[in-house]
Amino acid sequence: MKTFTVAGLEIKNRYVQAPLAGYSSFAMRELARFYGAGLTYTEMTSANAINYKNKKTDEMLPHQKERGPVALQLFGSQEDVILEAIKYINDHAVFDFLDFNLGCPARKVLRQKSGSYLLKDPDHLYELMRKIVLTSSHPVTAKIRLGYDKVNVKENVKALEAAGVCLIAIHGRTTLEGFVGPVHYDQIGEAKKMVQIPVIANGNINVENIDEVERITGADAFMFGREAIGNPKLFEDLINHEEGKEIREKILQEQVTCILRHLDLEIAEKGEKNACDVLRGVSCLYLKGMDNMRALKNQLVHCSSRSEYYNLLFPLLSLKAEEDK
Ligand SMILES: Cc1cc2nc3c(=O)[nH]c(=O)nc-3n(C[C@H](O)[C@H](O)[C@H](O)COP(=O)(O)O)c2cc1C
Repeated sequence: MKTFTVAGLEIKNRYVQAPLAGYSSFAMRELARFYGAGLTYTEMTSANAINYKNKKTDEMLPHQKERGPVALQLFGSQEDVILEAIKYINDHAVFDFLDFNLGCPARKVLRQKSGSYLLKDPDHLYELMRKIVLTSSHPVTAKIRLGYDKVNVKENVKALEAAGVCLIAIHGRTTLEGFVGPVHYDQIGEAKKMVQIPVIANGNINVENIDEVERITGADAFMFGREAIGNPKLFEDLINHEEGKEIREKILQEQVTCILRHLDLEIAEKGEKNACDVLRGVSCLYLKGMDNMRALKNQLVHCSSRSEYYNLLFPLLSLKAEEDK
């Protein structure tokens, strides 16, 4: 299995679970790791909210050592607010890398001149990231796009490396390109050639196209976002693909077990209501591509309590036990 190394820490494989607001909770990270993900990211965390001691934000921070390397992702625009937040998480969260979000295209985030807005000016980016690196007690990583309205990824990766950033994940689209349309893997490849630090390729990558993406980008690792939601088995599939092994079909009982595990971990983190809301969509994704699931999915999207999920799903596990007798 090929590996890559970030600030001296060897990551056991090149398969990375992306930061995903609303999704990449402890539950998602834990399941991704169970199936082999080498590195996981938290959801983006607001520097402002950390400084305001927002309870929900504090609950989202990793407070215990997880079973594999985790990047805690932060976003913000005002330098003093960001540095204050970093001083807080230096002491109050448990993680391996501090990732700074330079890719978010959400209007709310751009209006505050944070996220991918910061890609506009590589010199300012350098100044900000240098201070972040000097303030953080953890190695600093960055997640970027190709640029804001034009591609200036080469300048930005050089600025980031010069500032002391030790890993860059690149989503191969500009901010204005959003999340659809072609991903410019060739530009990720060009950026990769500019720096010595590892580069992660990101954007529409899956088991089918990963070899092609590797060939074009020469990236050190690969990051999976939407493909990994409700699909932690993706990481096993990627490992099997690399090892030339057959990719297993999804098994209903295994998917159901994952949904229930995901639900319970999510409840422990976010409370029953929020967890049940998240799992409505995510549970259906766990069943994606499987035959005869329409009726079950139609019921899952209406579940609003743990017991409703269990009433629907738990019998499917004992069905299997009956079949095995
Ligand atoms: C629902 C959703 C939430 C996201 N949240 C974040 C986030 O918190 N931080 C971040 O850097 N990127 C975030 N992204 C971007 C993804 O990490 C990733 O860069 C993008 O989806 C492209 O990769 P994919 O095609 O594998 O999904 C988000 C994307 C989606 C669809």
